[in-house]
Amino acid sequence: MDFTGKTAIITGAAKGIGRGCAEILARGGANVVLADINLGMAREAERALTEEGLRAKAVQVDVKSVAEIEKMVRAADEAFGTVDILVNNAGIFHATPIEEITEQEWDNIVDINLKSVFFATQKVLPYMRKKKSGKIVNLSSLAGRNGGFTNGLGYSAAKAGIIGLTRGFAARLARDGINVNAVAPGSTDTGILDGLGEDGIRGLTEKIPLGRFGKTPEVASVVAFLCSEEAAFMTGAVVDVNGGMYFG
Ligand SMILES: NC(=O)c1ccc[n+]([C@@H]2O[C@H](COP(=O)([O-])OP(=O)(O)OC[C@H]3O[C@@H](n4cnc5c(N)ncnc54)[C@H](O)[C@@H]3O)[C@@H](O)[C@H]2O)c1
Repeated sequence: MDFTGKTAIITGAAKGIGRGCAEILARGGANVVLADINLGMAREAERALTEEGLRAKAVQVDVKSVAEIEKMVRAADEAFGTVDILVNNAGIFHATPIEEITEQEWDNIVDINLKSVFFATQKVLPYMRKKKSGKIVNLSSLAGRNGGFTNGLGYSAAKAGIIGLTRGFAARLARDGINVNAVAPGSTDTGILDGLGEDGIRGLTEKIPLGRFGKTPEVASVVAFLCSEEAAFMTGAVVDVNGGMYFG
């Protein structure tokens, strides 16, 4: 896949699936903006990519804040002159039981996982509309497809909301030449599920027909495909990458 000359913003790119996406896009020739709340780790990822001779810039953002999202997009424009690709990947997980979820926890999980997707898309639109082209990929989840197994319901709701946003944006932006798709991973080996403990992880693994967690590059490569010209006729799709845990 060739991303030469394209500029990609990847949120949550300091580690996990986001970093995996940044690596594939950068190795395909893209300028990558590694946007993350953890600037130290984002800089580490930037250093690793620039040592390979690739173009990368770490930018600090808390995607909960619309003002910070605007700053992130401006920083991408200042660094590389435009925005062609947006990967809305930043997310947090919770496994809080129904009775224990507070209003504050609900707002936090929904703002980080869902509100961010709407506003990051809104803020990149002027760049993409001007060029009549763009690719946006949103990280949903198996939990957004079936409600999930171990996760808190704020997470399920946010990830299901991402599917609604993906389809709504896809329909509204198609005539602007902008493709909007989602990837819905199942359990993937990034560490985001470590809070479930050994028994929780074992129980989850038993539910996976392929018998194991997904590997980060197995999800990132699907995201990268959706960012590529090879996927130009796909929009509004939700691609399941879950080892057979759910057939969408
Ligand atoms: N790993 C899985 O099993 C799995 C399954 C389904 C969906 N997903 C989704 O894929 C995406 C990536 O997951 P992952 O497993 O790579 O996660 P991860 O925890 O490994 O990485 C998430 C990254 O997002 C960053 N981040 C968190 N809050 C942020 C904020 N407020 N602003 C900016 N950055 C923030 C973190 O610093 C981190 O670098 C998430 O949206 C997640 O919900 C993951």
